[in-house]
Formats: sequence, structure tokens, C-alpha cells
Amino acid sequence: MDSGNRTKSSLTQRPSWANLLKHADEMRSTTLRDLFTNDTGRGERFTAEADGIFLDYSKNRVTEQTLQLLLALANETGLRGKIDAMFRGDKINITENRAVLHVALRAPKGEQILVDGKDVVPEVHEVLEKMSGFANRVRSGEWKGATGKHIRNVINIGIGGSDLGPVMAYEALRHYSDRSMTFRFVSNVDGTDFAEAVRDLAAEETLFLVASKTFTTLETMTNAHTAREWLLSKLGGDEAAVAKHFVAISTNAKEVAKFGIDTANMFGFWDWVGGRYSMDSAIGLSTMIAIGPDHFREMLAGFHAMDVHFRTTPFERNLPVLLGLLTLWYTDFFDAQTVAVLPYEQYLKRFPAYLQQLTMESNGKHVTLEGTHVDYETGPVYWGEPGTNGQHSFYQLIHQGTRQIPCDFIGFAKSLNPLGRHHDMLMANVFAQAEALAFGKTAEQVKAEGTADWLVPHRVFEGNRPSNTILAEVLTPRVLGQLIALYEHSVFTQAAIWNIDAFDQWGVELGKVLATKILGELESPADPALAHDSSTNALIRRYRASK
Ligand code: F6P
Repeated sequence: MDSGNRTKSSLTQRPSWANLLKHADEMRSTTLRDLFTNDTGRGERFTAEADGIFLDYSKNRVTEQTLQLLLALANETGLRGKIDAMFRGDKINITENRAVLHVALRAPKGEQILVDGKDVVPEVHEVLEKMSGFANRVRSGEWKGATGKHIRNVINIGIGGSDLGPVMAYEALRHYSDRSMTFRFVSNVDGTDFAEAVRDLAAEETLFLVASKTFTTLETMTNAHTAREWLLSKLGGDEAAVAKHFVAISTNAKEVAKFGIDTANMFGFWDWVGGRYSMDSAIGLSTMIAIGPDHFREMLAGFHAMDVHFRTTPFERNLPVLLGLLTLWYTDFFDAQTVAVLPYEQYLKRFPAYLQQLTMESNGKHVTLEGTHVDYETGPVYWGEPGTNGQHSFYQLIHQGTRQIPCDFIGFAKSLNPLGRHHDMLMANVFAQAEALAFGKTAEQVKAEGTADWLVPHRVFEGNRPSNTILAEVLTPRVLGQLIALYEHSVFTQAAIWNIDAFDQWGVELGKVLATKILGELESPADPALAHDSSTNALIRRYRASK
């Protein structure tokens, strides 16, 4: 955004940045077609693998030189030291003075990670044990509702990181879930979300998990109070029922108690876990109830495997580093505005939505750690839909539009629901789309098919459109953990080089403050004195007049 007149940052003054700028100019006139024609081994060489997660990045507009230059930039900007600082528990979230230790959530017993001199790994395992005990009691029917009935419905109430991870993981791992139970997720302050979630459920069989790191978030608290009223209205108003139907997941015991949930029924986590990095903490309790503690631990092991890979593998073979560098390459040197994530796996239908918070709340920053305005682009817009659906919707623009949209295709060798030829057809489309984007179809090829001259330009595919292909064997809890950690660390890599704080989210505050003020104005019995801009004032008046 408008970086024209800014003084040069330390990043753009680096020799490797200047080299990349010059190199990008050369690369703009090189095509993927040429790169593949001139180097027939490229498709095998430009690949990397981590514990069963295979990345083919050959269909990117890069050469070995590009990678050398990007790696030089990573080294010059101290990526290695920054990774070590995160794993060491340094307070790298400087604007909130916090350590950033989601990696501790999946550290095996016995590993030591210190925050302010205290090893946090034992506490992580204590909470996991408590979650496991509770999940087993709910799943087995030992935990009963106030009227003695088994719990059959679990409703997670949360928003942002306290919702998107749980929803995504539930959908992703549905195959492994207890099908006799119903799981729903209420996030929006729009009352419709709650009303539709409970309309066909029996209160006496329903358990609410109120998930909020702060336990002060307006949407979640409003929904939690509504849930409490709903439950009490259905169960005859006996306050004692709340203890059997509500548990809390939070870092804020004081607020949990204030809400009326016994802190014995609270599952804690810590301020060194960011909301968008919390789905593998107690925030994942709904996931654990759905798939069981053993599968949940498998997922944690997947996260941990990718953590180890990120921390220890040389950058040139390091999946999150490569993914992060490629994103930076297109964002800063090719003017790409977005990244499309396209999972060819129906169970991953909420994965792009999950990644939106992870990537954009993390890297949507306009100042450096030192507080100066950046003079380069930071976090791109992430978006996507599962294939093959997207092909019949927005792929047209990716193939023939005027924008460059780097794509991540995610596919699996095996389906969890093998039905006839479905899976081969699905995977044929993954490979075909990446091929079509990269190599396109020339005017000569179109003409050779007997196309009328006037129609030829419409049917030409320019190609040269980059993509990654990520392949794994089959979607398991472990693989899901690996994939999430892959993107978490890719985001980290980008932020480390951009020199921004990927772990705060001040940009969400202003709207919250204004909404609180406006709410008072919408509900005021007397006409309020409005002191907003003329547009906001008029909208408020119109709403008041017609509500
Ligand atoms: O408003 C943004 C945010 O703070 C996210 O970062 C967070 O995931 C979400 O709200 C929910 O916060 P909490 O878990 O504290 O309710």
C-alpha cells in the first residue's frame, strides 16, 4: 500500500533484496514452459518431503538462483535465530510482551520449554490429561446431564481462533468421529447462529463448551448467556443444571467464575498461546470429544513432527521455509495480492477459512517491529475452496484473468471414502489444473484444433501461472497436524523476513470499541446525539427509524 515516499527500510536496503529485485526482472520474461523445456529433471528436483508430506514446488517461477537469493535473504534477516528464539520461549510477541509457544502444546512429555524460568511442558500434559478424562466420560456416557441423560450433542461457543480451528478440525476429522454424537459450532453474534444450532436439540442431552481465551469477547459471552437462558428455560430453571451442561475453556479463571461456571469444569491454557494458534490446546476439546483422546494425540504428534522438521531441517529442504519464501517472492517481487489454497479433499472444506485467520490476522501488519511503516508488501490475502467445486466457479479468473494468483493444491493418494472411480477423477483434476496453469495452451495449439481465427485469443491459456502441489497419503489426524503446522511456520517465515509482529492483532480493536459506542446509540430510548461522520450518523438514524 502506498509505499512510494517512504524512507528505505533495513529490509529493502539489504543486498539480497536488491539482488532479488534485479533477478525478478529477469524472471518476468522467463516462462515455466522454458524452465521445464530447458531442465527436464526440474519436476523431480524442485521437491521436498517431510515425514510423508510431499511438496512439489517445481511449477513456480523460480530457478536455483531464485532459491539461492531467497535463502540468502532468509539468512541475512536472521530467520534461524528467530526460529530458535520462538522455540526457546523468548518474548517475540513484543507488542504484548509475550512468548509464542504453540509449539509447546505438542511437545512430548519430558521435553523442556521455559517461560520466565518455568518449564511449561508438564502443565500442557496436565491439561491434556484432564481433557482426556473428560472427553472419555462424555463419550462413554458416564458424564450425564442434569436429568441423568447421556450427552449426545456438543455445542462449541467461540469465535475467531476459538471457533475456526475447532470447526475446521471437526470437519476435517469427521471420518474419525463418534457418529452417534452431534457437534455444532456457534460463533456469530447474529442470533440466527444460536437459534439454528439448537432448534432440533434436546437441552437435557446438550453440553456447551464455552471457548474463549479472554472470556470477555462480546459475541461469545452473548451467545453463552443466551445458551444458559435456553438451557434453564428448557430444564425448569434449576441453576444447578449449569454445572452439568457448561464447561469453559479459557485462560481467564476469574471471568469464568463470574459467568457462573465452576472453575473445576474449566480447561486452561496460557497467554503464550495465540487465539489463532490454539486449536491444539484445550480449545480443541470439541475435537477431542469427537475423535477421542488417542486420535487427538496423533494429531499433536503430527504438529510436533512438522515443528521438528521446521526447527532442524536445512532451509533448502525445509517445507515451511520454502512455502514462506515462495509466498514472499510473489507478494513482494511479482505484485501478487493473494494466495489460493485449494484442497482436493472434501473433509478439508473449512481449511481455507481456518487459514484466513492464521495467515491474515498474523501477517496483516503495516509496521515493522520497530514501529516504522514498511516499504514493501506484507501478508497476502488467503482464500480458497475445495476442488473440484472451485473449478466450476472462480478458476476461470486464475487461468485467464489478468492477475497472478499463486495456488496451493493439496491432494491425497487415498480417499477415506473410496467409491468407484471418484478418487482417480478427483486427483486427475489436481494434476490437470496445476499443469494447465503452468503451461497453458498456445495460439498455435488452439489454431491446430481448427478454431476460427477470431475465437483463438479467447481460447488461449497464457500459462506461466505458479502453483505448489502438496501430497500426502491419506487424511489422518497426524497429517492434519502436519498440514496446519506447515502453514503456521510458513506464516512465521514470512513475518520473520518482513520484520513484523505476527502474533498481535491490534487491527481488530478499533471496530470493537466503535461497536460498543454505537450499540448504546442504537438502543437508547431517547434520540442520541450522534457525533460520527455524516454517513454513520445517517445509517444509525435510518436503522433506529425502521427497527
Ligand atoms: O478479535 C480477534 C480475536 O481476538 C482473535 O484473535 C481471537 O481468536 C478471537 O478474537 C476470539 O478471542 P477469545 O478466544 O478471547 O474469545
